[in-house]
Amino acid sequence: MTSINSSVVTDVLRYRPRRLRRTETLRRMVRETSLSVNDLIYPMFVTEGEGQKVEIASMPDCYRYSLDLLLQEVQQAFDLGIMAIALFPVIPEDQKDDMGTESYNPNGLIQRTVKAIKQTVPEIVVITDVALDPFTTHGHDGLIDEQGTILNDPTVEVLVKMAVSQAAAGASFVAPSDMMDGRVGAIRQALDAQGYIDVGILAYSAKYASAYYGPFRDALDSTPKFGDKNTYQMDAANTKEALKEVALDIAEGADIVMVKPALAYLDIIHRVRNTTQLPVAAYNVSGEYAMIKAAAQMGWIDEKKVILESLTSMKRAGADLILTYFAKEVALILS
Ligand code: PBG
Repeated sequence: MTSINSSVVTDVLRYRPRRLRRTETLRRMVRETSLSVNDLIYPMFVTEGEGQKVEIASMPDCYRYSLDLLLQEVQQAFDLGIMAIALFPVIPEDQKDDMGTESYNPNGLIQRTVKAIKQTVPEIVVITDVALDPFTTHGHDGLIDEQGTILNDPTVEVLVKMAVSQAAAGASFVAPSDMMDGRVGAIRQALDAQGYIDVGILAYSAKYASAYYGPFRDALDSTPKFGDKNTYQMDAANTKEALKEVALDIAEGADIVMVKPALAYLDIIHRVRNTTQLPVAAYNVSGEYAMIKAAAQMGWIDEKKVILESLTSMKRAGADLILTYFAKEVALILS
């Protein structure tokens, strides 16, 4: 057949995929992926003081809250059906040092915050970040020597203390985001030895060295003072290495594995999904958030639709859980 003749087309077309797209009812019936409020984890920034709610310049509608106001925000999130939050502390400069000592202070900001949340909203799942960058003067996730080299094993020792102090405060999951080797196993062992057998580990397994973290570093004032994070976070060009990192974290005892960032790494989410039966999380990071907010503020995109399309793509790639600063917005859209 060389020319297209519509009556001929009608005769030979046995398959017409458009039949299933005709109406909203049909489209719903054959929809393969769904986004639910159950999938969302809401990352939140906590700061010292009282009555503080300070918008993050590069993350519109996202705030650093002091504990009193954070508790209200957590309650609101829970009332909207959000099951879990991930906490990040803004540490005052005078509490930072080269060793990140404040990270395992039993009365530190995060430890106090976890305790208060567990009293106010006991059912919500509280996930705490395990990494030194909010606590170090130099802004790196690990300890350094005189040359500025990141030291793996000494860092893991501090991370273990930090994770145990978070568990003691009542964290449901600890989430190592530091990318040191062997930290998942070391944390698992210490948690078990201290009786925290039910505290889980959400491992940032495939965390890439990404420029998409810029706004987050503004939020925490944690931009590295020298160098970059390329000796511990992964090279954006690699896939097989992500699978190796995931396999190691699973062998070391991770309960949930994560890929981060999400949108530029959907292929990685997909490959990880196919290699494990564990839940897979994706981190819709600050830069992904900022790009959507900025374009929406310019009136260039439909914010709600772009959010839903982006998060659906992460589910479609194979993520079970999504950390997203859009959590409350999505919960509202879906309700
Ligand atoms: C640091 C940490 C980062 C993020 C979460 N934990 C930034 C970094 O590695 O420099 C980024 C999150 C985001 O961009 O939303 N341990």
